[in-house]
Amino acid sequence: MRPWTAPLQRGVRTRVIVAAVLLAGVATAAAQAPSAQVERGQAAFKNNGCYGCHVIGKAGTPIGPDLSSVGRKYPADYLARWLRDPSLQRPSAHMPALELTDRDIDALAAYLGSLR
Ligand code: HEC
Repeated sequence: MRPWTAPLQRGVRTRVIVAAVLLAGVATAAAQAPSAQVERGQAAFKNNGCYGCHVIGKAGTPIGPDLSSVGRKYPADYLARWLRDPSLQRPSAHMPALELTDRDIDALAAYLGSLR
């Protein structure tokens, strides 16, 4: 290694370590609050009119599929992509792309993913 590159390399290594520590912190925070996220998703499901086309348990309208155990069918990351734009996941999708915030999408994906 050329001597003049050493401080640069050290700087990069420090930044990598800082990033790793930050990521670990985010992962821990997410792991600590799964039920809060699921509860938020449950509220978002009601507030965004999902019951207008879907059934969960005994509530809702059976225009689209029953979502009572949709978490058994798809992982949360697929559900999040679906909610961003159904037609990207399935070009023939009849479900409209809804105007959802990223926060609602993450919460809805956690909630739906927990329905087994
Ligand atoms: C206007 C009616 C309508 C609304 C509102 C609606 N959906 Fe759908 N949804 C559908 C239809 C129809 C399908 C069936 C798949 C398709 O589009 O071909 C579907 C499919 C899905 C699927 C995939 C189910 C499967 O088994 O493949 C999920 C998950 C889903 N919807 C979640 C939601 C959520 C969450 C909301 C609220 C943010 C919502 N939907 C709002 C009509 C709707």
